[in-house]
Parts: sequence; C-alpha cells; structure tokens
Amino acid sequence: MLYPIFWLITLGTCIPLSSFNVQETTNYILNAINDPQKEIQIENILKNPLVYKDYPPIVSLPKKDQRTLKDGEIPDYVLKYSPLVHLYSEERYLPYDIQKFVTNFHVTYKNGTIIPGTEEDMTLEKLSKLPKHSEIFLTSNSDFDKNPEWITGFKNKPNLINGEIKDAPAVLITVDKGNGWVDSYWFYFYSFNLGPFVMGQGPYGNHVGDWEHSLVRFYKGEPIIVWMSAHGGGGAFYYKNLEKYSLDEKHPIIFSARGTHANYPSVGQYPHDLPYGILSDFTDRGPLWNPSKNYLGYTYDGKHVFPTTNHSNPKQAGREWQYGNWLSYTGHWGDQQLPDDDPRQVYSFIGGYKYIDGPMGPLMKNLLRLKPCERAKWWNFWSGCNVRQNIKWGVGIESEGYNCGNLFINVRPTWLKSGLQRVTWGGGFCYIIDLIYG
Ligand SMILES: *[C@@H]1O[C@H](CO)[C@@H](O)[C@H](O)[C@H]1NC(C)=O
Ligand SMILES: *[C@@H]1O[C@H](CO)[C@@H](O)[C@H](O)[C@H]1NC(C)=O
Repeated sequence: MLYPIFWLITLGTCIPLSSFNVQETTNYILNAINDPQKEIQIENILKNPLVYKDYPPIVSLPKKDQRTLKDGEIPDYVLKYSPLVHLYSEERYLPYDIQKFVTNFHVTYKNGTIIPGTEEDMTLEKLSKLPKHSEIFLTSNSDFDKNPEWITGFKNKPNLINGEIKDAPAVLITVDKGNGWVDSYWFYFYSFNLGPFVMGQGPYGNHVGDWEHSLVRFYKGEPIIVWMSAHGGGGAFYYKNLEKYSLDEKHPIIFSARGTHANYPSVGQYPHDLPYGILSDFTDRGPLWNPSKNYLGYTYDGKHVFPTTNHSNPKQAGREWQYGNWLSYTGHWGDQQLPDDDPRQVYSFIGGYKYIDGPMGPLMKNLLRLKPCERAKWWNFWSGCNVRQNIKWGVGIESEGYNCGNLFINVRPTWLKSGLQRVTWGGGFCYIIDLIYG
C-alpha cells in the first residue's frame, strides 16, 4: 500500500480467557464514516433495502440473535470461496511470515527513541505488549535497502501444485455483520513495497512492511461482493463476474501487482492516482498463491479477536495461540520515512519520497466497514464505492492474450521469443502450468 492511514483507537485493558482484547468500539460500522450528517444519510438509505440491497442491513453491532456465527467459528464457505492470488511473474518481493519478520527490528517512537525491551530479540509477543500508540515504528536492525532475505522473501514462492506458501501464512479475519451478512478478510503480508516508477524515474513510495487485503462479503453463505485493496483505495466487484480458478471454479482470482502488491481483477497495466497513465501498476499470470492452504484464522467482533476454534487444516490448528495477541499492535509495520539527509532518501516533485512510512496492521483497515470499500479516496468521499458489474481489463501490452514473461515480448522471430519465455522462470512456470492443467 502506498498511502497508509493513521487511526487512533481506544483500547480495552482486560483480556478474556478465550480471546485477545484489541479494541473498544462503541458505534459499530458507522464509526468508520466519522461524520454525523453522512451517518444519517446512510441510515436513511439503509431503511430502503431496494436501493441499498448489497450492504449489510444493520447500523449497530449485531445482537446475539442477529448473528449466524459463534466467536472463533469460521464457516466452511469462507474457505470454499477464498480468493487465489496471481503474484507477478518477476516479483522480487514475496510474501513473508510476520513471526520471522519482526525478529529483524527494534521499536522506536517518532522521535527515534528506542522503546525499552525491544533493542534485541524482538518477538510478536513483545510487539503485543507495546504501548498502544499509533506513532511507533518497527525499525530495521540492518539495512533493508540491501535486499536481505527477510525483505525479499525470495524462497516464498507458491507450491506449483497446490499454491501453498509453506513459510508465509496469510491472515484470515472473519467478521459477522449480522442478519446473515459475513465479511471475510484475507490479509497478505509482504516485507517490502517497491513503489512505482514515474516517467522513468523512481521508484517512489517504497516502504518496509506491506499489508494488502481482500474482502469476500457473504450473504447467507453465498459470496456476493469481492473487494480488493490498491493504494489505500481499491475495487469492489460482484463475485459472479470475477474470473475463477479453473480447477475449482468457486475461488475468485485476484492479481497482485509488481512491487506494490496492489490487487486487481485482471491482467495488464493499471494507471492510478496520476493522469495519463504515468503512474501504473502491472499484473500478470505469475505464480498462483492459494492463501487458504496456510493461514492464521480469527474472528473479530469489534472488540475482541478470537483465534479460530475450527481451522480447516488440523496441522495448523492452535498456531494462532503461538502467534499471540499480535493484532493488538497499533504501530507501523516498518521503518519511519527516511529523513531527507539519509543518503537512501530521494525526493522529487513528481513522485514524492522514495521511502515512506511502513503501514498500519490489519485491525486498522476498517474491518467494521459498511460499504465493501475500506474507505473512499478524499475526492470521492461519499459515492466512492461502486460495486462493479463489469471487470475492467488492464490496458497495455500485457493485457489479455498475454500469458507469461513480458521480458521477451519484442523478440522476433516468434519461435525464439517463445523459446526464451519457456526457459525463464516466469515463462517456465506458465509452461508447466499449461502442461499440468491444460
Ligand atoms: C466450523 O464449524 C462449523 C460448526 O460446526 C461448521 O459449520 C464449519 O463448516 C466449520 N468450518 C470449517 C472451516 O471447517
Ligand atoms: C520521544 O518520545 C517519547 C514518547 O512520546 C518520549 O517518552 C521520549 O521521552 C521522547 N524522547 C526524547 C529524546 O525526546
């Protein structure tokens, strides 16, 4: 994510036996809007279900009799319809395990003071006991700019057969929104975000730690809407219109963009944030990641996080307890924006800074949202969350018809190009997939 948001939250203090206490919220979903006028507007619209039929028809925390799930219960449909993610074929920054990730850091305040006890041997447990402060930063012990293994995660490629990434669990958080509506959030953690290039310069907006996510919204066990994150905004689509996994057509497919890991529903070039396509993301059919093969599962009721009581993979059951109450960490998951006098830092008026703040964690991503979008961009505050019927295709040479390895796209003759694509990792991957899956 390029532009992390900063949310101050109030925190509870008691820790019930069966859950991790993370956050006190009084006013449920509408909290996210933070504007009384808009809240009244939404409430009125909600009273007219014909107009707003796709949103959960509730305005407060669901009461016991409105809930369909118990705390810690993840229904099987959440796994059945979980998204699969095509990583970019030449992706250099792969998913990573948060437990291993944090061992490379200490924690600092904004003024650079190290929080005592974090100087060495950082663990998720230490992270969960830090002051509940949004302006604290996981700060690298060594130079992340040298692309060490804990930054690139280069070993964490999906298994070619089942899509599992063995050493990098995804994070699943299910939220019961009442009256049959259930939101399932899949979080994807990458150690590094490589920002985009602008007119041949850059990259801009790099940061350590990268939390991306998607949401599958269910109504009575049926998937209705899929939303996917991209640069602090994102796209919402009707489930039925998304591409599905060819071997099991229940799973929607998401494409993770090169470097930024922004998520899109198709292959190609995606201009964003700046006009004329000068700032673009690129997606392709690189390795296919199946996050449901390796995940940490939780439910969230707005106040507590409950580790799943029925993990779909018995071998992973109980692992959430080993990871502990890490979701209660309220700070940044990576270094603070490098100071202007740091030799690694660059500023340009076109692209901004080369290195910016690391992002906030999963519970800071508006999981109690009413609309499927995390938030609208400032210029589109109210109507910014259209759920799309049509999947917009990416533009550019990599769009449709493209298969793998754009590296040799201009090589002629064609037989030489396809030969080169096949011997490269990206091209080779596609070839194998073609052989196996036809
Ligand atoms: C969890 O348990 C519930 C209730 O027994 C069941 O309906 C659901 O399918 C289970 N989920 C998984 C992922 O096995
Ligand atoms: C830095 O900020 C923290 C938290 O606000 C404070 O406790 C500490 O004293 C500050 N350190 C310095 C050197 O100002």
